Amino acid sequence: MAKMAASVVETGEDAFRKIFKLYKRRNPPPDFSDVIDFSECVTTDKVVPVKLDPAAVSDGDAAKVGLRPVKDWKAFNLQGYPGFIFITNPFLRGSQLFWVRQCLKTYPQKPNVCNLDMHMSPIDTQDIWDKSVPNLSSPSVGKTEPRTLLERLRWVTLGYHYNWNSKTYSASHSTPFPTELHLLSYQIATACGFPGFIAEAGILNYYKSDSSLGIHVDESELDHSRPLLSFSFGQSAIFLLGGTHRQDTPTAMYMHSGDLMVMSGQSRLFYHAVPRIVPTHQKVEALESDRCGWHSGWQGGAVVERVSEEDWAVCARYIHSSRINMTVRQVLGQGQNFPETPPRPGHPEERQEDDEDRMKRRRKSDSFNINNT
Ligand code: SIN
Repeated sequence: MAKMAASVVETGEDAFRKIFKLYKRRNPPPDFSDVIDFSECVTTDKVVPVKLDPAAVSDGDAAKVGLRPVKDWKAFNLQGYPGFIFITNPFLRGSQLFWVRQCLKTYPQKPNVCNLDMHMSPIDTQDIWDKSVPNLSSPSVGKTEPRTLLERLRWVTLGYHYNWNSKTYSASHSTPFPTELHLLSYQIATACGFPGFIAEAGILNYYKSDSSLGIHVDESELDHSRPLLSFSFGQSAIFLLGGTHRQDTPTAMYMHSGDLMVMSGQSRLFYHAVPRIVPTHQKVEALESDRCGWHSGWQGGAVVERVSEEDWAVCARYIHSSRINMTVRQVLGQGQNFPETPPRPGHPEERQEDDEDRMKRRRKSDSFNINNT
């Protein structure tokens, strides 16, 4: 990275933004040769393989949530990014499909919250999957306006629902966190040295081929000693990881389908962004063959279940051109509570919303997180 970065970054300027714009650029396309590809397993002075404790999670417990035995995971640290762990696709054959199906069919359902709720009534945003399936665009058709609710989905929040305006979570706006996603996160956190992780909030981002995610730090959680887990499915992305200052030149890496990132320690509060989605049909087609090679050794108590052919046909169509990212966070430390906040007159959450508020929120929420170029 440093090679290319050095030629575009001038001291004292916002190095992160420059690199973000570089990788987002369409014409001419950037040189991708410095982007780290962990799936190629090349150890450099920056990429350091790390052995996770194989005894931390039993093979049976890993399999229940669709993960391979921890001893088979390929995990890496990055020099200069303390607490950052990258794990290349630790999922058992066939189990990614289950998580993709959850992201598209299950998690957008009520009582979870999504961007469409910001300007549509709960009745209209009910059954996003069922309403979308008959009209989903075919992957063979070129770029078209999103027709269905599923294609217009940009984000879903789970558990403590993130408030995009105030950038906070609150006790008064939460719904039960999905048990199976908590279990998956718990096993991964345990394998990475964070036993007792409690998944309390999730943000799911849905990217089209021309989407990007702006530069930000995830700091709204009240306990930063707990890791942030990030899961990628579908098309690949370029992920940029910087430091605590916007002047720190970020490192670029690919995130392919199934890859995981754990941000803990100092890296937990580092700037990051997704400037570009990179089409990778090969990796997504490999998922298709995974369906046929569905792991047959699921034991009783597995939370991962086989995805029906009909459901998979819809998911496959979706991820043929899109990417899904799930981030899972623990918001509160042990014994911690949200600070008392007395009701304030005029606070948007405490008074009825009028049409103007709704329009303002609509514009803000649709463009806030994922940007479509
Ligand atoms: C995030 O930082 O919230 C998501 C990053 C990603 O999509 O990989």
